[in-house]
Amino acid sequence: MSRKLIVAIDGPSGAGKGTIARAVAAELGYRHIDSGAMYRAVGWKAVRDGVPLSDEGGVRALAERSTIDIDGPVVRIDGVDISRVIRTPAIDRAATAVARLPQVRDVLVARQRALGEGGGIVMEGRDIGTVVFPLADVKIYLDASEHERARRRAQDPAHTGPTTLAEVASALVERDRNDRTRHVSPLYAAADAQVIDTTDQPIADVVRDVLGLVQSRLTTAR
Ligand code: C5P
Repeated sequence: MSRKLIVAIDGPSGAGKGTIARAVAAELGYRHIDSGAMYRAVGWKAVRDGVPLSDEGGVRALAERSTIDIDGPVVRIDGVDISRVIRTPAIDRAATAVARLPQVRDVLVARQRALGEGGGIVMEGRDIGTVVFPLADVKIYLDASEHERARRRAQDPAHTGPTTLAEVASALVERDRNDRTRHVSPLYAAADAQVIDTTDQPIADVVRDVLGLVQSRLTTAR
């Protein structure tokens, strides 16, 4: 039986992480975990419960006492299916705000590492190859032009909210700037990540390239 790897996929919003991670996981028979959904779940619950998004201790405590389940596209917090309400502009902002808090990251990173125990996982996010699994077997950093990323986000039916492409683009640029410049676990490509620009690449080609990297890892000794 072949070894079960950890595949880390990072990159900014709209780079294609979800689509690629889902397809690669399905092909390999691995679990697909969208770590961003965990930050969204915590942000959503903090908003619902009226916990200020800058209250680090309060949001950390809230995260610690929450059960978050990610099952493919379905995201539950404390058993409540929130899949359809966490991809809105308000929760984009709430997720990015709670993701800046080191104590909140500690709680979620520990859970992400636990999910990766034993391998057989494709995890997507911003810091998977740099912080969560610095020893991941395969590290991919997906990127695309700002215009293309905004275009994809505007067309993604899972995301609801602003209607014009310009509004989507400016919100996306602002969130990326936050993710790249924060002090803790900023978004950047790990030195040993394979960077793939998906701007003009068909999905199938990117999936094939990632699977090729996985195959070559499987055939090299540990
Ligand atoms: O990937 P997604 O856009 O759903 O992530 C929402 C937010 O969660 C990101 O903008 C980022 O601030 C945060 N995040 C993070 N680290 C991750 C995944 C997401 O900080 N590994």
